[in-house]
Amino acid sequence: MKVAIIGQGYVGLTISVFAARANEVIGYDRNTILVENLNSGKSHIEGVDGELLKKLIAQGKFRATSSSADITGSDIVLIAVPTPLSINRKPDLSFIDAACKVIGESLDSPSLIINESTSYPGTIRNYIKPAIEKYSKVKLAHEYAISPERVDPGRVEWNQKNTPRLFVGLTPEATRRTREFYATFCDNLVEVSSPEVAEAAKLFENTFRQVNIALVNELAQISHALGIDVRETLDAANTKPYGFMKFTPSAGVGGHCIPVDPSYLAHLALENGVRATFIERANEVNLEMPTYIAKRVASDNGGSLKGKKVLVVGVAYKPNVADTRETPAEHLIEALNEMGAVVTWSDEVVGSWKGQSSSALGGADIAIVVTKHDVVSSGAILKAAPYVFDTTGAVKGAAQL
Ligand SMILES: NC(=O)c1ccc[n+]([C@@H]2O[C@H](COP(=O)([O-])OP(=O)(O)OC[C@H]3O[C@@H](n4cnc5c(N)ncnc54)[C@H](O)[C@@H]3O)[C@@H](O)[C@H]2O)c1
Repeated sequence: MKVAIIGQGYVGLTISVFAARANEVIGYDRNTILVENLNSGKSHIEGVDGELLKKLIAQGKFRATSSSADITGSDIVLIAVPTPLSINRKPDLSFIDAACKVIGESLDSPSLIINESTSYPGTIRNYIKPAIEKYSKVKLAHEYAISPERVDPGRVEWNQKNTPRLFVGLTPEATRRTREFYATFCDNLVEVSSPEVAEAAKLFENTFRQVNIALVNELAQISHALGIDVRETLDAANTKPYGFMKFTPSAGVGGHCIPVDPSYLAHLALENGVRATFIERANEVNLEMPTYIAKRVASDNGGSLKGKKVLVVGVAYKPNVADTRETPAEHLIEALNEMGAVVTWSDEVVGSWKGQSSSALGGADIAIVVTKHDVVSSGAILKAAPYVFDTTGAVKGAAQL
């Protein structure tokens, strides 16, 4: 089958290399530099090997493109574009709309269109299908399906092959063809009864994480006030063999999923007359963590950070990836700047961020660890400043969150 994948980011590229085992994959992305890099075998995603890309290109199984003409004639089109929040934290479907436009304008024969981008229930039925029909020059009998993506970039033990995949079409024929496509690379397909169930399940998976992370971050604050070690408390609770799942405190949540997806559910809930109070409160707690941390560090350092050289260690939102989207490090740096600190950051995995290069790991009065990559040793972090505050629990010997 000829498969066009719209968006070649974390999701689109990962799917591309799996789908290319048994299909001819066209990786369409509007970022021309990215397309050029992919076509010369340079991967920008942890877990997608450049050598594998080169091999697939040489075998004619994968090709990246920015030309919409290459989408024409596809049997299947997958949507894997960003679904962020707007400035006022509302769902922003403008990337989905742009993807629908290019799909609608490019297809000249009936195709199966599958959405993998995360969005609220009803998106494939009430948004994507009408949008593609609106942009199509001729009336074509496309089929539509949903299969929300669950990839966790950087995680190796769970991948496209062994992670159960939810899916369903708007019609039985769409469901049949969707199953046939994913069966070419995924061993565990879970059909649900409606697209809305699949879309809601994806949002709830990430809401579950968001709320539990907030809960444990609140526990960290309570524990500090009570003089109790929060991590020992969590380890102790985790000895219960049932009914408990351990989450750990942190500087907050980051990435394109956990800080964003729950607000898609909250938005749809409110439109239907229900307030998603857990989601709202969890957002508040997680977003307040950087300020809480800055205040804790100030209090440990004579009550003020004015003029102090503070080094933020690790600005990626999680270990061993270069992804800085929605990173809590950004809010921490803002909070520290507001308190008069002279702030720099160090992250050799990220390298450069917001037009700045990573600073050396040292020469600071205070170091605050937001993310600890495996390539950075605890010993080196402890030498970076006379006072080190660790939000990760990985740097033994540092002051702990
Ligand atoms: N990153 C994750 O871990 C993850 C996991 C599961 C689900 N998701 C969801 O998958 C979707 C994609 O996320 P991502 O992390 O891959 O995003 P990303 O930012 O890594 O990649 C998106 C790509 O789409 C391209 N793009 C944007 N608009 C386009 C258009 N109109 N036409 C062609 N290309 C376009 C961008 O240039 C970019 O390369 C989102 O809905 C996200 O919530 C992400």
